[in-house]
Amino acid sequence: MSTLFDLNGRTALVTGSTRGIGLALAEGLAQAGARVILNGTRAEAVEHAVAALNARLPELLRASGRANGRTIDRALGVAFDVTDEAAVSAAFAGWDREGIHVDILVNNAGIQFRQPLVDLQLADWRRVIDTNLTAAFIVGREAARRMIARGAGGKIINIGSLTSEAARATVGAYTAAKGGIKMLTRAMSAEWAAHDIQANAIGPGYILTDMNAPLVADESFDTWVKNSNPARRWGKPEELVGTAVYLASAASSYVNGQIIYVDGGWLAVL
Ligand code: GCO
Repeated sequence: MSTLFDLNGRTALVTGSTRGIGLALAEGLAQAGARVILNGTRAEAVEHAVAALNARLPELLRASGRANGRTIDRALGVAFDVTDEAAVSAAFAGWDREGIHVDILVNNAGIQFRQPLVDLQLADWRRVIDTNLTAAFIVGREAARRMIARGAGGKIINIGSLTSEAARATVGAYTAAKGGIKMLTRAMSAEWAAHDIQANAIGPGYILTDMNAPLVADESFDTWVKNSNPARRWGKPEELVGTAVYLASAASSYVNGQIIYVDGGWLAVL
């Protein structure tokens, strides 16, 4: 098997990974050989997700032909609020003490808040911007400081959105944050690519997640999504895994500052 996409021996931190896209990406990176660190704000949810992933890991690895020969064999988990600079710093300090080096960071944690801008409260604006954009800076900075100090390079994968490229009414704070994610990704690559850190982003289309459950249940919205992309359907979280493994692996060693849309072709057609 080619080692081009092999993540064996690498450690990947996926923020906001107790469910949805984050958990799917963590599982996919584990199946590609990485040790994964799950994260969420609630310790109980993190513990449950780690236990469930470790229970599935042997079968996942058998399915990917990696049942043996792995250097690291279990998922880990740490509960911390990605918007809390001190909590993020403490989490990384803990991994420093344990000799755990984050080689791959997936800045996935995010929230949605749907309300017209004229009605949006400043506190809600700030909460969305903090979680969806500022957190990627806080966690990315901690990871990059260590990647640069170690001189071993690294991978940063920020999770954008269709709204990194085009706005939808009533999700203005989210749109601004995700637009920022596209440019933060480029800013990271501008400063860190020389240290062999590849910073890129994934722009998911409309994906079947808990966050989008109200939209799926809305018949007119569901019809709009299906009519707006040439695949004529919603995406599945696991359909983002291939792009994440590509961006996390040696296969993307000369790719910097890009956002790859996994959207059924939504942005490619009129
Ligand atoms: C919404 C959705 C979107 C999608 C995704 C599209 O309310 O429009 O939550 O934000 O989740 O970001 O790429």
